[in-house]
Amino acid sequence: GKQIKLKEVEGTLLQLATVDNWNQIQSFEAKPDDLLICTYPKAGTTWIQEIVDMIEQNGDVEKCQRAIIQQRHPFIEWARPPQPSARNAKDCMVSYYHFQRMNHKLPDPGTWEEYFETFINGKVVWGSWFDHVKGWWEMKDRYQILFLFYEDIKRDPKHEIQKVMKFMGKNLDETVLDKIVQETSFEKMKENPMTNRSTVSKSIMDQSISPFMRKGTVGDWKNHFTVAQNERFDEVYRKKMEGTSINFCMEL
Ligand code: A3P
Repeated sequence: GKQIKLKEVEGTLLQLATVDNWNQIQSFEAKPDDLLICTYPKAGTTWIQEIVDMIEQNGDVEKCQRAIIQQRHPFIEWARPPQPSARNAKDCMVSYYHFQRMNHKLPDPGTWEEYFETFINGKVVWGSWFDHVKGWWEMKDRYQILFLFYEDIKRDPKHEIQKVMKFMGKNLDETVLDKIVQETSFEKMKENPMTNRSTVSKSIMDQSISPFMRKGTVGDWKNHFTVAQNERFDEVYRKKMEGTSINFCMEL
């Protein structure tokens, strides 16, 4: 197929699939040393993007300030693009709900009760969490894929960042690594205009409704799920994820 370089989509905030560009997106071919980040929405895309760029720039903070994160890592929508990162479905749902409340380009999520059904039925803009996670989990050993968990990065950022570094074929000093851990913490990234989406117009993302860097924790689902919802969710999860060996940590 015809090769389009990521550079061609650089500078655009989003390379969304439309009737006009679908062929271009479909025929995209990665080069052997391209690194593709394949997260489910709200699974920590921005976080892993910043980690990867920090590693790429050898921990040089100034270089990572050259542009907003959406430009340093252009988005491209693709059916099965590798480096998936996964976050437990319940926290993803909560994060996605608040994101849809503040993002006026996305459908209004309705009430939490309504959104709960929308999410478990996979009726969200970028498709079902279950399909995404199951699909990538099954694929991970067949290709050069590094499968990361949000909860692991949260628990032991240094260890996980080291994994990413090795995957990228980089070898950075301990001091640089420590700096990357610090600079990619939730607190830092929340204050960083190149990662916190503060440059996005309020008519698109209204952060007074809910900030883009909202909480950055594991287990916030407990503040949203009722006991009944939790039981229903676990039942749906068992059915949809049947036969999958993947295991998520739900609280730290
Ligand atoms: P919450 O809404 O739960 O706070 P994405 O980048 O895929 O849209 O994901 C956004 C989610 O990742 C948000 O979750 C955001 O707070 C969280 N996040 C972003 N940077 C983070 C960091 N450095 N540490 C922990 N969580 C982070």
